[in-house]
Amino acid sequence: MGLPINRWYVVASTDEIGAEPLARQVCGKRVVLFRDADGDIVCLDDRCSHRGFPLSAGRVVDGQIQCNYHGLRFDNCGRCTWAPGQDRIPSRANIVAHTTAVQGPWVWLWVGDLTAPDPGLLPRFPWLDDPDWAVVHGMEPLAARYGLLVDNLLDLSHETFLHAGFIGTPEVAETPITTEVDEDAGVIRVSRHMEAAECPPFYSESTGLQSPIDRWQDIEYHAPGNYLLHIRVAPHGQDPADDDNGKAAYVKVLYGITPSTESTTLDFWAVCRNFAIDDDEVSAFMAKMNREVVLQDVEALDQLEVYLAEQEAAGVTPVEVSFKIDTGGLAGRRMVEAMS
Ligand SMILES: [Fe+2]
Repeated sequence: MGLPINRWYVVASTDEIGAEPLARQVCGKRVVLFRDADGDIVCLDDRCSHRGFPLSAGRVVDGQIQCNYHGLRFDNCGRCTWAPGQDRIPSRANIVAHTTAVQGPWVWLWVGDLTAPDPGLLPRFPWLDDPDWAVVHGMEPLAARYGLLVDNLLDLSHETFLHAGFIGTPEVAETPITTEVDEDAGVIRVSRHMEAAECPPFYSESTGLQSPIDRWQDIEYHAPGNYLLHIRVAPHGQDPADDDNGKAAYVKVLYGITPSTESTTLDFWAVCRNFAIDDDEVSAFMAKMNREVVLQDVEALDQLEVYLAEQEAAGVTPVEVSFKIDTGGLAGRRMVEAMS
């Protein structure tokens, strides 16, 4: 699977970008992020034009980044503003500045044709900066190709086994899914509506809901790198029209699935909730628990990557058997392949 460019990928969270330069690699492209004198986010090629030293090994001085090799400085547009012993600096010393977009705690990077960032392709995740929603978030690096994370997130039946005691209950694996593929929009939708299901600890301890519950999972995968899971949990049998009675809870689980290299991935996650939004204990609980869930996936996918890499090194095409649960994941693979 290649790495699709001319797309937006989550590159960092805003709280990671501060006084020190931050190095990131997205689709193989090395960039450095920092803040200029106004506090605005800057993203430049992570390579000094002089001898190619990584700028992320330097420091930020007066809102510009200073190379730690010979001291060249670059402003928020990538313009070289100082070079040692040089009165006039040639424009070819300038470096590329990249387009970013911020929603709530996440910073997206446009990867691809520098002249044509397409705002229409930026996913809209309004819960990230809506004061009626609380957000917890994090990022875990994966030593695995990003397609494995796409597979993982489009088939949540694995929750029953890999995430038992967290978000997994028997009903997730037992309840059939529906899958819709919107080729024009580049979106895949996978839905699973569980009725009279067990309430897993992630929801019982955060919402106070007790089994049995109705639990809906409605996935939107915006290929290749953005993922949204709409969750509704409510007392079993409650009419959704009554969901403003304070007993139902909505959660949006977002992922930035960011290919770093062909075989590594940045797994950005955010959990947005519309209940107990001022309750720090609930925030701490959801952040801790979701991170543990993400780490369970990371461990599994890292193991899969080892297997796949071994097979590829041996010139063997891994044989897989797919089931009904894989409809979304297989559609995702086809969609991403068409974009690569
Ligand atoms: Fe998982």
